[in-house]
Amino acid sequence: MEIQQWREILIPYQQAVQELKVKFESIANENRKLSQYSPIEYVTGRVKKISSILEKAQKKAISLSSIENEIEDIAGIRIICQFVEDIDKVVEFIKSRKDMQVKSEKNYVSNTKPSGYRSYHIIVYYDVHTALGAKKLQAEIQIRTLAMNFWATIEHSLKYKYEKNIPEKIVERLSNAAHAAYVLDREMSRIRIEILEAQKSFQYKSNIIADILNTLQNLNHVGNKNEIVSIQSEFNRILEKGTVEQLASLSKRLDVIAQGYKVQSLT
Ligand code: GTP
Ligand code: MG
Repeated sequence: MEIQQWREILIPYQQAVQELKVKFESIANENRKLSQYSPIEYVTGRVKKISSILEKAQKKAISLSSIENEIEDIAGIRIICQFVEDIDKVVEFIKSRKDMQVKSEKNYVSNTKPSGYRSYHIIVYYDVHTALGAKKLQAEIQIRTLAMNFWATIEHSLKYKYEKNIPEKIVERLSNAAHAAYVLDREMSRIRIEILEAQKSFQYKSNIIADILNTLQNLNHVGNKNEIVSIQSEFNRILEKGTVEQLASLSKRLDVIAQGYKVQSLT
């Protein structure tokens, strides 16, 4: 098959990766705006390189005509979470969505691979609409924690370096490192509740500050200068020595003033 034909085949996959990334990233962003904890830390995506597709097809004796059916990871999405507990939430979330249908799943989180690899894999069917028409394609979604991702990334690059024949000594070290990553995830789960509370209050505080700054800026154009200067210095004082409650109460007062000038804004 010509390179040009391959490019055309891969267009819907590129779109699928972009769309899926935006969809999962939106969940993270919306949660942050609502001062809620996000089970998704960040999302990456890629379309498999033509050379890797051909290599995999050859290795698995897949004919050219069945590549799109049999190679499930031409479109690949990786969702990184902070905690092991988040993985289940993301899995449930994917299963509840109407715009992706789960084809199969593999739980390497509870069934660690012999290499030490841990991750949750889901293959979904996903509809894309491109200039070339509509198409249902498959995408592989890998869900893992930061620690799992750290390990997998290093292991992958070593496999590359040693062209899959990793020396015994390094295999052993990798296996120890995999265990360390597992222990790290377990320890993080234990202090998760405390971390969650700290993150939530930090997010809450930064949202209030953003609201105050935004309203102050809007008031600057229309408000009474003396009043604004006095509020600004009160704001500075609270920032330096005050509490979150005081910030929240200042924010409420500012809202009332902004309402009076009809310059209240949505942030
Ligand atoms: P593939 O031929 O790779 O699709 O194998 P498979 O169909 O048995 O799928 P599996 O779910 O085992 O692996 C799919 C993907 O998971 C791989 O392409 C890698 O991205 C990742 N993966 C699986 N095992 C390992 C591992 O031992 N180390 C690392 N770094 N990644 C792995
Ligand atoms: Mg696979």
